[in-house]
Amino acid sequence: MKLQAVLCILLQLIFELSSCTYLRVTPGSTLELPCLSFQSDFTAATITWQFNGKDISEHPYGSVTVKKDGLYLSISPVTAANEGNYVCVMKDDQVEMIRMYNITVDGEIHTSLHHFDLGLTLKLVCVFQVVANALWFRETDDGGRVMLNLQDEENNKLELLYPLDHDQTLILRDTAMDDAGIYTCESTDGKKLSTIYIIVEVPPTETPHTCEGFTTPWEPCQDQNSRTGEPMLQESMAEFSMKLYSYLRQSDPSGNLLFSPISISGALSHLLLGARDNTRKAIERAVCVPHEFHCVHFQMKRLRERMASSLQMASQIFYNPQMNLSESFTNQSIQFYDVEPTRLLENSEENTRMINSWVANKTKNKITQLVDSVSPSTQLILLNAVSFSGQWKVKFDEKQKKGHFTKLNGDMVKVPILFHHNYMAAMMFVVELKAQVARFALSGDSSLYILLPRSSKAADLQHVEEKMTDTAVRQMIEQMKTTPPQQIEVTLPQIKLDVQPDMNILIKKLGLSSLFENPNLCGLYSEDKLVLDDARHRAFFALTKQGVEAGANVPLFIGRVTDP
Ligand SMILES: *[C@@H]1O[C@H](CO)[C@@H](O)[C@H](O)[C@H]1NC(C)=O
Ligand SMILES: *[C@@H]1O[C@H](CO)[C@@H](O)[C@H](O)[C@H]1NC(C)=O
Ligand SMILES: *[C@@H]1O[C@H](CO)[C@@H](O)[C@H](O)[C@H]1NC(C)=O
Ligand SMILES: *[C@@H]1O[C@H](CO)[C@@H](O)[C@H](O)[C@H]1NC(C)=O
Repeated sequence: MKLQAVLCILLQLIFELSSCTYLRVTPGSTLELPCLSFQSDFTAATITWQFNGKDISEHPYGSVTVKKDGLYLSISPVTAANEGNYVCVMKDDQVEMIRMYNITVDGEIHTSLHHFDLGLTLKLVCVFQVVANALWFRETDDGGRVMLNLQDEENNKLELLYPLDHDQTLILRDTAMDDAGIYTCESTDGKKLSTIYIIVEVPPTETPHTCEGFTTPWEPCQDQNSRTGEPMLQESMAEFSMKLYSYLRQSDPSGNLLFSPISISGALSHLLLGARDNTRKAIERAVCVPHEFHCVHFQMKRLRERMASSLQMASQIFYNPQMNLSESFTNQSIQFYDVEPTRLLENSEENTRMINSWVANKTKNKITQLVDSVSPSTQLILLNAVSFSGQWKVKFDEKQKKGHFTKLNGDMVKVPILFHHNYMAAMMFVVELKAQVARFALSGDSSLYILLPRSSKAADLQHVEEKMTDTAVRQMIEQMKTTPPQQIEVTLPQIKLDVQPDMNILIKKLGLSSLFENPNLCGLYSEDKLVLDDARHRAFFALTKQGVEAGANVPLFIGRVTDP
């Protein structure tokens, strides 16, 4: 796999989806399903809702209620029984509109009980579709399970909230350490309706902050000429990209998706340089690099240099001058990440201006407004920015043209397009991905890969998305390399996207919650405890007559926790 893979992943995007919305929800949550995807006052229309083919408008059951004459369907709390297809049909004299939802309910609830919750009352939710008696079980340590006695009136610890209702939620009073365990709610015929994990978290015993034993610099890269270093980083990058893709796809299944794995990985790798012990291991796992890969920073530098003609990557450090940054961290940041450590200024406005202008410069003005303010508690900012610009090797028609673009909900919109009726590009149907793939050669050694699902139906897009693993994408690139270009008619929308995924959630999904709580960043600074206060990501992408323009950046804001 070459450079192209990294770039092609940077440029993935998915169009808006709507006609069937797929939602994954956790039991116990509240769901509001609108019948229309837009604001409306169709007062004359009749609206009916169906659940798995059955009309539920007249007789909603359980936790389902129809609101505002059918404009909304509300489910609260969601349980496993609510899983399935919901269809809203709106009819009036002239039009009939249909909206579908496919709801999947996650099978497990993790109820995490904190030490300060001990003694409280917990509700273990379990709702049947019809009135029924639930059987509640608790799994025992030896793998067996016992049925819970709900009639134990004496100690009153367990009780059904509504004994005669389809809602068979269990109340657990006066929770104690030994209530931790796995609880399941089943119907009498053995169907599992909920599984609830109760975890009791014991507060960690506070130890005074010390960096003793963790201040040695990042170990040198012994074998700079090793032939395995480069493929190792590329492999990590590809795996990391697909991991991010799958997280983001799940968290926003219907929106446009745009992100830059290389920028996120660039920022996290830079932080890795100052991370020690468990924090180091967690970041290594998150960015998919093996623990013994000491040359990761050296290889990041190589990657940056190799790509410089098409994708420019830059890093920077802004720091509070009151803070003694570790000298070896500063030196290695200069050596591997080419930073020019810069002092933070007196006030938020000056800092905001300084950071935004650095970002604007490094993204060639594609992103000019990254932050609106810089908190006075911020001690250190690690920044990464990338900028990509590739010209089409084969130019599109110069004439301004508009064409139809079909959105996933079936709506057609007129948009400015790029058009060519005799374009030379490699194209083939890639069976493994169930998609038509075309490769557009760009200046430098880059390419833009466009994947077209078999139809504009949401389900077909979903198929493609599910098949996009790093192996499948790598194979696609290999296959496309040996496919000779052919003449094809090309119509592309002149896309322009500017997206800001929630980086704090992403960091948690990557298994790095500890960065916000109690990280070991002793390689960076040793006098006080540091924590990650905030992280952002902003990505920009455009297809123009000239080519592909993209930019992205990631700032990590780090604060200091002083021991009382
Ligand atoms: C809903 O979506 C899931 C996941 O895509 C699928 O397995 C299931 O068959 C769908 N349900 C219906 C009733 O179509
Ligand atoms: C920073 O380091 C210098 C020299 O080691 C020391 O004199 C100074 O007190 C340190 N500053 C802080 C804020 O700890
Ligand atoms: C950092 O770099 C400076 C200048 O190159 C050098 O004098 C210093 O010894 C280095 N410090 C460490 C800890 O590597
Ligand atoms: C970025 O800054 C450098 C150095 O100040 C300058 O030479 C360059 O023209 C700037 N680039 C942009 C796009 O503003």
